[in-house]
Amino acid sequence: MWAGRHVVLGVSGGIACYKSCSLARRLTEAGARVDVVLTRAAAEFVRPLTFEALTGRPVLTSLWERDRALAHVRLADAADLVVLAPATAQLLARAAQGLADDVLTTLLLARTGPVLVAPAMNDAMYAHEATARNVEALVGRGWAFVGPEIGPLAEGPSDRPGRMSEPETIMAHAARVLRRGSALAGRTVVVTAGPTREPIDPVRVVTNRSSGKMGYRLAEAAWERGADVVLVSGPVTLQAPVGVRLRSVETTEDLERAVAAELPGADVLIMAAAPADYRPSSPSTAKRPRTDGALAIPMEPTADILRATVAVRKAGSVIVGFALETGDAIQKARTKLEGKALDLIVVNDALEPGAGFDVDTNRVAILDREGNARVVPLASKREVADAILDAVEARIVG
Ligand code: CTP
Repeated sequence: MWAGRHVVLGVSGGIACYKSCSLARRLTEAGARVDVVLTRAAAEFVRPLTFEALTGRPVLTSLWERDRALAHVRLADAADLVVLAPATAQLLARAAQGLADDVLTTLLLARTGPVLVAPAMNDAMYAHEATARNVEALVGRGWAFVGPEIGPLAEGPSDRPGRMSEPETIMAHAARVLRRGSALAGRTVVVTAGPTREPIDPVRVVTNRSSGKMGYRLAEAAWERGADVVLVSGPVTLQAPVGVRLRSVETTEDLERAVAAELPGADVLIMAAAPADYRPSSPSTAKRPRTDGALAIPMEPTADILRATVAVRKAGSVIVGFALETGDAIQKARTKLEGKALDLIVVNDALEPGAGFDVDTNRVAILDREGNARVVPLASKREVADAILDAVEARIVG
């Protein structure tokens, strides 16, 4: 996503500048070329040298630097994205007015491409009508905003927006701005993830080793492509990705109900969850005491959620299933794809090292209903998620 991208990070003078260092670092580590432009006030908070060391590139702080007279105009033109973090009330006011009184505002006035703004200021300043008007004017010009959020400010606790979003949130929004124009933009994508838990009694459950990582990375990647994402998740320990709507479920029956509720509005359903195929037929309402001898717990099948989607799916929607197999995986997956009337099935071999449950990588093959197979070599689950979404996008019509 970030490799080869050129980002200008415009920093104005607020205490949130300390988070801009980490943002500059993360963008650089992700592969972006990051040119930092500081206002005079920002350079009071963080010295240019800090950003130079973090990005490995010279930092622009003035219009009057020797041999760099036109650097700001070139950057305005060449950057894939300009991120303003933090954007103070003063910077927003100057940008909204079209002032060009320092290197950053001059760059902004020359900028025609995408700009993402992460405001940070005192909560009363953000609530002020003057600031609201400036934000409105900039939104009207097509600039994207992230935050500010409610949280502690330098001056103490606050229950109103003012605090700059965290670097990872800004990065997710930046990726979404850069991805504008993707076939998933404006579509509704439902992703299921994680295991289910089927109760034996109030304290014991039947579950599986699914970590939810594949589904969470799919939800994250789909949101960055501009989709409205609903993540229906079984019990996992992962943090919900930025921007997605999380629906937490426990049992396969809960999952089935959530999918049925979301499906009529879904353009894409990706069933990455590992729902239990069987559940104890009569869970006890009291804790079962230990008894001598073997224990047999009668089990009954749960509903096959994917199979049931055929009847209620939206016309033109794309339905993606997963198959975790052992031995002759492709053939077994193809049979599942046909049996469940799927558009795509993502297959992995449970016995292969680095693939499947509870690891950060995966090696999959993506099969489509026309009989094509695309093998994605061992890669991070995020990279695999992007390969799956490329296959989904290729099927979206209109
Ligand atoms: N799945 C589902 N409902 C279930 C169980 C699984 O919709 N009750 C979905 C999974 O989310 C996955 C796909 O079906 O996308 C395949 O899951 P898998 O367990 O491999 O397939 P099954 O159809 O259960 O077949 P089997 O376990 O016999 O291989």
